[in-house]
Amino acid sequence: MSSVSEYGDSTRSVHEAEGPHGLHEPLVPPIYQCTVFEMDEPEAYESYRDTPYLRHNNTPTQTAVARKLAGLERAEDALVTPSGMAAIYVVLSAHLKQGDHLVTFDNLYGGTAKVIADLERRLGLKVSRLDIRDPASWRGVITPRTRLIYGETVMNPLLTVCDMEALATLGRETGIPIAVDNTVATPLGLNPIDFGIDFTIHSASKYLNGHSDIVAGVITGSSVRLKPLRVAMAEWGVSLDPNSAFLLHRGLRTFALRFRAQSDNACRMAAWLATQSAVRRVHHPSLTPTAHPLATPPALLSFELDCSGPACEAWMRQCTLARVAPSFGGFATTLCRAMASSHASVSADARKQLGVCDSLIRLSVGIEDVDDLIADFETTLAQLPRLAA
Ligand SMILES: Cc1ncc(COP(=O)(O)O)c(C=O)c1O
Repeated sequence: MSSVSEYGDSTRSVHEAEGPHGLHEPLVPPIYQCTVFEMDEPEAYESYRDTPYLRHNNTPTQTAVARKLAGLERAEDALVTPSGMAAIYVVLSAHLKQGDHLVTFDNLYGGTAKVIADLERRLGLKVSRLDIRDPASWRGVITPRTRLIYGETVMNPLLTVCDMEALATLGRETGIPIAVDNTVATPLGLNPIDFGIDFTIHSASKYLNGHSDIVAGVITGSSVRLKPLRVAMAEWGVSLDPNSAFLLHRGLRTFALRFRAQSDNACRMAAWLATQSAVRRVHHPSLTPTAHPLATPPALLSFELDCSGPACEAWMRQCTLARVAPSFGGFATTLCRAMASSHASVSADARKQLGVCDSLIRLSVGIEDVDDLIADFETTLAQLPRLAA
């Protein structure tokens, strides 16, 4: 655990894993654009394994950003990966083999749901997809073949918040490891490790980097839990390149500052949207404050416009500040229909069952002045009757 762990989130974002300090030392750790380092005792296998090598994720640029991420998630250790999907795939593949049972939830990020369906087919996995809003039903599905429980702390696009106490209790009582994707909540929303969750996963491409210029991922947990994953990643060749690791480290220095501003803006946008007659429904945890354990509310929200899917598309393209783009978590406000992003790979019937209708718009709120964003929406929502005609 880091020496700055007792400080607040902004201080840790800035100061974690920034050394060495001293006269003429650089204030920013340099980028080691280098595959391999000189080796001690060449005959010892352990020495070979410990020698920094890019594929082993143990070069200084990779380990510095991993230490910062572990600190932010209040975890002992972290592994950086070349994308969020790579982090998810590593955790699933390292725990599951033919015939095993996976417990998961029914409204996961579409990319993850697709990978699980694929593993289900190829490995003959048994998969239980639970309703995240009904913790009472979770206990009954555990079997002697259950090897992993996989969830998301805040689910995208409906912003459903998982009951972390109930999830951690399930893990404690059954001894089954639990992994959660904490991308939408971020470490400022909650730290799953504090609840007793074994692994957290992030698409660092989103808020952690925040500049919409790299894809990366991270898995955090205890050193013991991460050790087999570290070995598997080195064997499978899953590693983050030094340029992306350096940029992620740079992005993380302003993570707390950015995310707080984005979260405040999102709360303002959610409250404003909820008063608009053209808006049928708004999904954001700040609108039901007693129902969630999040220290900082998400910077993502979704809302249903009172019109058809094509009219929504036409409306989105009238906005001048918010740009139409499928990802989220960047510095600039973006929007898109959920059916074209998080749930693009989900069938129309399944989307309907999950409550992801064609006019559901996902809004990733940036760091702009929120009054400008509201003015943009006010102008364009006034045009909706014409666009919908
Ligand atoms: C919740 C969530 N997890 C994981 C991912 C995958 O991340 P990446 O695009 O970095 O592979 C995404 C991508 O949108 C996501 O929304």
